[in-house]
Amino acid sequence: MVVSTGSSEREGWSSRSAFILAAVGSAVGLGNMWRFPAEAGENGGGAFVLFYIFCVLLIGLPVLLSEVLIGRHGQASAPESVRRVARDSKAPEGWSVLGSMGVFAAFLILSFYCVVGGWVVYYIGVFLSDLFQTGLSGGAFAGRPAEEIETLLPGLFGNGSLMVGLNLGFLAVTMFFVARGISSGIECVAVYLMPMFFVLFLGITIYGAFTGNFGDAVTYLFTFDFSKLTGEVMLAAVGQAFFSLSLGVAGMMTYGAYASRETNLGETSGIIAGADTAVALIAGLAIFPIVFAAGLSASAGPGLMFQSLPIAFQAMPFGSLIGLLFFTMVFFAALTSSVSLLEAPTAYVFEKFKLSRPVATVIVGVGAAVLGILSALSFNELADFRPLALIPIFSEANFFDALDGVTAKLFMPIGAILTCIFVGWVADAKLIDDENGLDGVLHQVWRALVRFVCPIVLTLILAAGLFPEWFAKAMSELQQGFAVVFG
Ligand code: TRP
Repeated sequence: MVVSTGSSEREGWSSRSAFILAAVGSAVGLGNMWRFPAEAGENGGGAFVLFYIFCVLLIGLPVLLSEVLIGRHGQASAPESVRRVARDSKAPEGWSVLGSMGVFAAFLILSFYCVVGGWVVYYIGVFLSDLFQTGLSGGAFAGRPAEEIETLLPGLFGNGSLMVGLNLGFLAVTMFFVARGISSGIECVAVYLMPMFFVLFLGITIYGAFTGNFGDAVTYLFTFDFSKLTGEVMLAAVGQAFFSLSLGVAGMMTYGAYASRETNLGETSGIIAGADTAVALIAGLAIFPIVFAAGLSASAGPGLMFQSLPIAFQAMPFGSLIGLLFFTMVFFAALTSSVSLLEAPTAYVFEKFKLSRPVATVIVGVGAAVLGILSALSFNELADFRPLALIPIFSEANFFDALDGVTAKLFMPIGAILTCIFVGWVADAKLIDDENGLDGVLHQVWRALVRFVCPIVLTLILAAGLFPEWFAKAMSELQQGFAVVFG
């Protein structure tokens, strides 16, 4: 559908539900099924998870609404939308930097996201070939020793050219849909793939809950141990919340720009955040029972989902078929997200340089391919390359981890802080009220969160995460202070 914006005719979502599906599709992805369990495991479980939920409700949701609202008012790419809100509020148009920074970060994320997308494709291939060899009844997976299945991922990591090939393949599929535009490309993936995703996902989780170590997983994920909540854990949790909700880096501004005036943005933001968080928690409950039952390490990092689940599939009847369905579903979810990551920079490039959408897609795609190759090679050829050796919290990171860390722990929180200041203090209050679709108390609460709570809490978390020793010292002094005061 074409939405009239006064000055020009531009593409938009064909309905409210198409917008919701596309936005949920952007949010739900590898962030939920791959990154969330890995981060939870690396950051000690319960403290991370509960702080993550706190971040989604108190920070993620208000920022999400702020972003779609900027996009919907601006009806343009992220930098231009911010500029228009600033212009209509008689504020400095230099605020558009907020959008430009986001577009750049989305581009960085896209590059390594497609590397992980490539791993998903590899597993689809593994299960498919298994099915062909042995038929439906179980596949060669059944009965294979767990150790052998665990070596699949290291095997893939060791093969640089295969990693690069899969990465480029995944990126090419993403480019195909973005080049086709909103209604015949992006919306099409979301409207067909997201419902299929939810059906498959629920089926597999229910199945998994009955076979693994469910109780241990619940304890691990939901037991809050205050002493484990360090500055690093808090920053990791807030970064994960933003990554999962596609926030802080222009993604949701870009999608909001295709929303029509009739869409209630407050309500829509609630649906997006609710669905995304539910999927992350369910993914955790599906993956950790298997991790514990199989004696794997919870802190295995990026390999967690790829190593734990195939072990469970191997023990199930029809294991290869279930494995194939599962990874196909992850592929769908990843694709609806990578499409949104590519759309943010592409929309900017075609608008700014007056190019056609397909040409802009190719330009951004080629850039992402170059960076993606470096990420794919960080698991083999470039394993010892430490691009950010000088920055303490990233000193151990290879190229892939560095991009992931810098975007989630710097770009996203900083982008979100600026978004809150912009929406809460700079933009015209009347303009914001007209867009947000909230009334009464909810409106007041949202406004207070955006103006005060989010920017302050985010700044503190950012400081605590970047200077963990400082934070630990401050906390222990605070504790001593309490001890003195309360005897
Ligand atoms: N939210 C997606 C996921 O969880 C990833 C993603 C898609 C994203 N678009 C984004 C992250 C924009 C940041 C910004 O997999």
